[in-house]
Amino acid sequence: MAETQNIRDRVYRTYLDFLETAEKKRRWSVFDDVPWDALDALKATETSAECVEIFCAEELYVPDYSSKGLELVRSRFGIAWFQTCWAFEESKHGLVFREYLSRSGLRTKAEVDALEAGICAKIWKLPFETPRQMVCYGALQEGATYIAYKLQKDKARAAGDTVMEAMFHLVGRDEAAHGGFYRAIIELELAQDRQPTIADLAEVLSNFKMPGADLIPNYNQRLRASGAGISPRMFVERVVQPLLTTLQISRQEFKQALKRRELDIQANPDADSRSRNQQRPGRIL
Ligand SMILES: [Fe+2]
Ligand SMILES: [Fe+2]
Repeated sequence: MAETQNIRDRVYRTYLDFLETAEKKRRWSVFDDVPWDALDALKATETSAECVEIFCAEELYVPDYSSKGLELVRSRFGIAWFQTCWAFEESKHGLVFREYLSRSGLRTKAEVDALEAGICAKIWKLPFETPRQMVCYGALQEGATYIAYKLQKDKARAAGDTVMEAMFHLVGRDEAAHGGFYRAIIELELAQDRQPTIADLAEVLSNFKMPGADLIPNYNQRLRASGAGISPRMFVERVVQPLLTTLQISRQEFKQALKRRELDIQANPDADSRSRNQQRPGRIL
């Protein structure tokens, strides 16, 4: 979007609201807010470890997510500051899962070291080129992550696992707030530039995959085996449709955008910027 001063002010205001809520209502401690002492009695299982491990690996790419994201938006004050705050919050997600793996005894130090080494060996790249497309990606990705963590929280609560329940509650609440910020920015974009913004959302959805899909070995298979994933249907019903409803984009308007995109690809196959996302998404998250 062409950044007028008015828009810059509104984005900054949106960030300040996000930060105020984060500081007053959402801050939490890896050390004090998870009942680690309960781990001894809980008998954590290997399935829990596999589930937490894949989330941990995906969250630990925060140096790439934050550095590349910040570089993309550095001239946009409110979004750049969000990116720095976001990076801090995301850094705790990887850490709390890492602590779970170690403190539960389900992974040895050597295994955690190997997990870290595997992460450092690969670099995450921005899946889309423009800030607006990345905002659309953020809304979908945070929404999918929130739903995945909510499923784990509900499962833990039913099983009486207070440690898993606390972790997924705290981390999931952050993801919901991140999704809310991205949605608010999309609303500003829609007000300014409706059709191109919907086109970006259609573009991003058509190529969507979770960040770990290209980074983590056997990603989809491990999600399925550990019960950590969400199905494509759940992604549509609990992430995409609610997002479109909140943004007041009708199904028909969105379908038209998808259709225009297909026609555009047919007319200009060589100019298709989507080829940078060569792999189609498989299972979502
Ligand atoms: Fe996260
Ligand atoms: Fe997040």
